[in-house]
Amino acid sequence: MSADVFVWVKDLLQSIHDARISNQEELDAFRVRFLGTKSEIKSLFGEIKNVDNDRKKEFGLLLNEVKQAAEEKYESLKTLLEGQTGGQSDSGLDLTAPCEPIAIGSRHPVSIILNQIIGIFSRIGFTVAEEREIEDDWHNFTAMNTPPDHPARDMQDTFYLKDSTTQLLRTHTSSVQARIMTSQKPPIRIIAPGRVYRNETISSRSHCQFHQVEGLYIDEGVSFADMKQTLLYFAREMYGPQTNIRLRPSFFPFTEPSAEMDVYWGLKTEDDYRITKGSGWLEILGCGMVDPNVLENCGIDPAKYSGFAFGMGIERQAMLRYKVTDIRQFFENDARFLSQFSGVI
Ligand code: PHE
Repeated sequence: MSADVFVWVKDLLQSIHDARISNQEELDAFRVRFLGTKSEIKSLFGEIKNVDNDRKKEFGLLLNEVKQAAEEKYESLKTLLEGQTGGQSDSGLDLTAPCEPIAIGSRHPVSIILNQIIGIFSRIGFTVAEEREIEDDWHNFTAMNTPPDHPARDMQDTFYLKDSTTQLLRTHTSSVQARIMTSQKPPIRIIAPGRVYRNETISSRSHCQFHQVEGLYIDEGVSFADMKQTLLYFAREMYGPQTNIRLRPSFFPFTEPSAEMDVYWGLKTEDDYRITKGSGWLEILGCGMVDPNVLENCGIDPAKYSGFAFGMGIERQAMLRYKVTDIRQFFENDARFLSQFSGVI
């Protein structure tokens, strides 16, 4: 008798494993057969009394194993089937139904471009330096080799603080060069992003506030070739690996020699002609070797150290990238404009 019930239990375990269940009816049938009040397992519990004493324990353990197997299979199939039927739980709530859409904000296009620029330069060892927007004329102009009679200092171009002749809103991020050079020792390798202000008539092409990124690299033996290679690397990371650059001689009071860098944009479409004024080249940034006077003004020995600096407008890059034709759109906070950048990191 004992041997028979053992076979029965093992068969039962096998049938639990073998049971194929693909819908609710089959699941109900499974529950009735293996877990219901008239289930085979229940009746087998009643057989314990007939099992030989020395095997009772073994039989009990086996029965528990069968019961547990049935329960586990039932529970996991139940969860699985609920998932397939849209998760209708007993409470009538559909737990998988999509919720009310939550509007996810978007990054401002200026931030998107700035983050890319920071990423590109941080990969070659530049760190970010941020400084004040309200400056004094020494850091903004004098230290940067811009004499008092320079037209850039004119009230026409510069916003001075009320009743002040020395406190102003910085007109370029080059003021950060002076701040860093007077507070750090070379080697210096920084980029400085931030807002700048100029007293300009607001139009589709210029604004009284915009953003720049400044770059400064100072060490022993830094050459023009180092600057060129750094800027070529930047242009290719920013505009694609085939991008070509050219440097045109220019003038800035704080660099000598100075240059403006263009990238080759192409001349395929009518837009290309308009944007590049028919040349195919686009001006991206100003740059040059830091003028020895600037180094001296900031307490760095020009006989020992040399360096390069560059500065670029961020809105300009964003306008090119996203084909924005009016700079004012960056400052109007029009959600219809800004939401176009959602999903861009
Ligand atoms: N400060 C310059 C500008 O605002 C850009 C520049 C920065 C040029 C550094 C050369 C070196 O136009």
